[in-house]
Amino acid sequence: MRTERILVVGSNGQIGTELVAELRKVHGNANVIASDLKAPESHSSDGPFETLDILDKYHFTDVVKKYEVTQVYLLAALLSAIAEKDHRFAWKLNMKSLQIVLDAALDFKFSKVYWPSSIAVFGPSTPRVLTPQCTITEPTTIYGITKLAGERLCEYYFLKYGLDVRSIRYPGLIGWKSAPGGGTTDYAVHIYHEALRNKSYECFLKADTTLPMMYMPDAIRGTLQLMDAPAEQVKIRSSYNFAGMSFNPYDVAKSIEKHISGFQISYKDTDPRQAIAAGWPESIEDSEARQHWGWKPEFGLDEMTRDMLENLAVAV
Ligand code: NAD
Ligand code: SER
Repeated sequence: MRTERILVVGSNGQIGTELVAELRKVHGNANVIASDLKAPESHSSDGPFETLDILDKYHFTDVVKKYEVTQVYLLAALLSAIAEKDHRFAWKLNMKSLQIVLDAALDFKFSKVYWPSSIAVFGPSTPRVLTPQCTITEPTTIYGITKLAGERLCEYYFLKYGLDVRSIRYPGLIGWKSAPGGGTTDYAVHIYHEALRNKSYECFLKADTTLPMMYMPDAIRGTLQLMDAPAEQVKIRSSYNFAGMSFNPYDVAKSIEKHISGFQISYKDTDPRQAIAAGWPESIEDSEARQHWGWKPEFGLDEMTRDMLENLAVAV
C-alpha cells in the first residue's frame, strides 16, 4: 500500500484546524501538509505548513511536486454570509479553486480528492423537512450556487475521467477548537462562548429558525469514514446528504440553561442571514450515506452542549 501524502488547502479554518489533527493521527504528521493564505497564529510544529493561495495554480503545483502530494482536501471557500458581500469574488474563489484542484488531480494522478459541499445547494423551492438526496436544488445564494456547480463539476470529473472525488453536504458545524468563518449557522458556535462569558447572547437568527446542524467530532469522523470507504461503495460522486441533528436558537438556549442557570437569549430584529436561513432545509434525510458507507451520527443537542461547555470552560 502506497503512503498517501495529503495536502489540506484552507487548513486554518473551522474544519481544517480539526481535520488536519485527525489526518495526522492516521497518516503521520509528515504526510499531512497544512496550507493556508498565512501561517496560523499559534503555528503548530506538528507537521509541515505551506503558505499558499490556491488561486495561484503555479504555486499550488510547486507545492504538489515538492511534497509528492497524492490527495488534496480543498477547504478554502467563502461561506454563505460572507460570500453575499462580494458575489464575484465568491464565485471566483469557490469555483476556480475547485477547477485548479480537479485538473491537478488528473495531471498528477491523485488517488483521491475531497471537496465539501453544503446544505446551501438547496433553496426555497426544496422540500424543507427530511430533504432527500435527490430533490429540487434551486439555491438563491451565491454560496449555494457555487456549491451546486461544484457538485456537478466533481461528478463530471468522476464520470469523464474516473477521478476518485468524494464530497459531503455539510450542515452547520459546531466545534470548540476553532472559530467559524462567516456562515449563517455561526450563531450556534458564538452562543456557547457568550453563555460562558456573559450569560447572555443576542442571536442574529429568529428563535424558531430550525436548521440542520452537526457537532464537529461527528463531521470529522464522517469525513474520514467517507474517504476511507472502498471506491465501489461511494456511489454518489456529486455530494452526499449528511445529517446529525436539527435545532433552532430557542432549543440551544434551553439546552444551555440546563448548565448555566439564568442564561438569557434575545433576538435581533433584522439580519441578512435570516433570509439565507429561510431558504435552507430544516432537516436532512441521509439514508444513502448510512447505507453506502455506514454513516451514523453520535451527538445530539444535549450531548453537544455538555461537551462544548466543558471544553470551552477550560479553553477560554
Ligand atoms: P473557514 O472559512 O473557517 O476556513 C476556510 C479557510 O480557507 C480559511 O482559513 C481561509 O484563510 C482559507 N482560504 C481562503 N481563501 C484561500 C485561498 N485563496 N487559498 C488558500 N486558503 C484560503 O471555512 P470552514 O468552515 O472550515 O469550511 C471549509 C469548507 O467546508 C468550505 O468549502 C465550506 O463551504 C464547507 N462547509 C463548511 C460548513 C461549516 O459549517 N463550517 C458547512 C458546510 C460546508
Ligand atoms: N455553515 C455553512 C454556512 O452557514 C453552511 O454551508 O455558510
